[in-house]
Amino acid sequence: MKNKKLTIIAHGGAGGINYPARRKSGLVKAVHAGYDILKQGGSSLDAVTKATTILEDTTVFNAGTGSYLNLLGMVEMDASIMTSELKFGAVAAITEVKNPIKVARLVMERTDHLLLCGEGANKFARLMGFDSYNPETREKRRLWQRRRKRLKNRYFPKLEELAGIYGTIGVVAIDKNGLISAANSTGGMNMNLPGRVGDTPIIGAGIYANKNGAVTATGHGEEIMRNLLCFRAVKLMARYPASLAGKKVIEYATRQGCRCGLIGINKTGAVLCVNNTKAMSWCYIKDGRLSSFP
Ligand code: GLY
Repeated sequence: MKNKKLTIIAHGGAGGINYPARRKSGLVKAVHAGYDILKQGGSSLDAVTKATTILEDTTVFNAGTGSYLNLLGMVEMDASIMTSELKFGAVAAITEVKNPIKVARLVMERTDHLLLCGEGANKFARLMGFDSYNPETREKRRLWQRRRKRLKNRYFPKLEELAGIYGTIGVVAIDKNGLISAANSTGGMNMNLPGRVGDTPIIGAGIYANKNGAVTATGHGEEIMRNLLCFRAVKLMARYPASLAGKKVIEYATRQGCRCGLIGINKTGAVLCVNNTKAMSWCYIKDGRLSSFP
């Protein structure tokens, strides 16, 4: 199928690029899987769900299996999905599922709600047939043990100390019918307080989509929420080309002291990919050609 619009972009977090080869291989696999769906005429909703699932299963990323542990050493995950038709579903502080994004999608498709959290989200996942699953990895447990010692048993670590220890994964795609979808998933910030929910499942903050485009963010969740960053970015997409909208939103974020990265696609299939942190891992396929972080 030859369709100039078909595009998919993914990121693996803006908190720096440790293990670059593992990150790149996960991102490349994810965008290829999503792009195959688009090429076969599938929907952007299926493409972002598939790509996000792959990133959640790739343990180097802070999402799904391999999520960061909170202050008490537990994994709590957030995820959301949104389309340019304003359909939205999300889960927050969900604990015992392999792929939070699949549960978020079912919140969108099977309920009258937008966001389920905590035990309610777990219960919903069980009702939808998802097995109980422990997403913790030994790598992230060891990281938690090292950081826990440094915090000297304080229960309220300052966000400043945690900032930079974040990561999220996100995917945006446009299909042959012009439907644009965005999805994201995260284990939150390393060592965050139990019950803390970041920007990822908050509509307008960590994700937004409308007929002009779709954007998802990564970075310091509290700042992203305070600035409703994705809503702002999509609004800019209505007036400016994607690259200029990206430049304006990241300049705004920097002025506000918000450390973040954003990816997006507008209604013409043009890509937005910006960050103001040390580094963000990203990868996209447009017109059949793959580009990625160096
Ligand atoms: N951006 C991910 C988080 O702050 O939870």
